[in-house]
Formats: sequence, C-alpha cells, structure tokens
Amino acid sequence: SLTDKDKAAVKALWAKISKGADAIGAEALARMLVVYPQTKTYFSHWPDMSAGSGPVTKHGKKIMGGVALAVSKMDDLSGGLLELSELHAFQLRVDPANFKILAQCLQVVIAIMFPNDFTPEAHVALDKFLSNVALALSEKYR
Ligand code: HEM
Repeated sequence: SLTDKDKAAVKALWAKISKGADAIGAEALARMLVVYPQTKTYFSHWPDMSAGSGPVTKHGKKIMGGVALAVSKMDDLSGGLLELSELHAFQLRVDPANFKILAQCLQVVIAIMFPNDFTPEAHVALDKFLSNVALALSEKYR
C-alpha cells in the first residue's frame, strides 16, 4: 500500500498537474478508446467517441473528478471510492481489467503534458496510487 512518501509525492504531482486535469482526462479517455478498442463497448451510447468530441471532453472531466476525489481520500480509498466502485460494478458492469488500462493511459498523457513534473519519483508514486485506485474501484466486484 501507499507509504507516506508515496502520498506526499502524489500530492506534490497533483498540485502541479491538476490545473490541466480536464485536458488530461479527455486525452487519456480518447487514447484508451483508440488503443484499446474493446473499451468502446461501454460507451456505445455516445454519438461520437473520437478525440475532442463533446462526450469524450465531458467524460474526461468526470473521470478526473474521480481522480481528484481519490487524491483527497488517499488515506481511505476503499471508503472514499465506495460509490464509484458500486456504480462501475453493479450498474455499468465495467471489467476491472479496464481500470489498469485507463491508469496506463493517464500516465502516458501526464508524461506528455507535464514532462518536467513527471520525474521517475513522481512516476513510481503515481503508478502505485493508480493501482490502489483500481483496486478500490474493484472492491465491490468481490
Ligand atoms: C462513469 C470515474 C474508469 C466506464 C464515471 C463517472 C466517474 C467515473 C466520476 C461519473 C459518475 C456519475 O456520473 O455519477 C472513473 C475513474 C476511473 C474510471 C476515477 C479510473 C481511474 C472507467 C473505465 C471504464 C469506465 C476503465 C470503462 C472502460 C464508465 C462509464 C461511465 C462511467 C461507461 C458512465 C458514462 C456515461 O454513461 O456517459 N466514471 N471511471 N470507467 N465510467 Fe468510469
């Protein structure tokens, strides 16, 4: 699980990148839909799934709202993300393998948009954090 050092590193990175959160979310989502086209099945009700489209831009913001929530509930991710876990498990029925895929896309986009802030130390902490977020989101599947 996350050490105090990991938590501090994620908070420091988030302080630098959160101003670009909406763009990060939209880019990461668009990338996920292109690189892992099986993820498109969950969004088939959208009129347009291409990068820069209305639904992708809007949903990118929502995802990052979830990430911001996770950053603020870092000490209790299971409790903090309980409702989102229930939503993705019972209502949306998202295969939890996809949480790892989105986590990877988020990291690629953050590396591109914030190359100077995405140091190896920030990278390792963010990777651990997003794995823990994925785990917390998967909790309700058990
Ligand atoms: C909806 C967060 C991963 C599929 C949402 C919402 C949030 C969110 C905040 C909106 C909830 C609401 O409206 O009350 C996250 C976070 C994720 C994640 C933080 C991981 C870091 C995924 C993945 C998929 C997915 C990997 C599928 C590949 C969906 C779908 C909706 C949704 C289909 C409903 C969208 C719609 O109907 O327009 N998610 N999500 N989510 N999420 Fe996720």
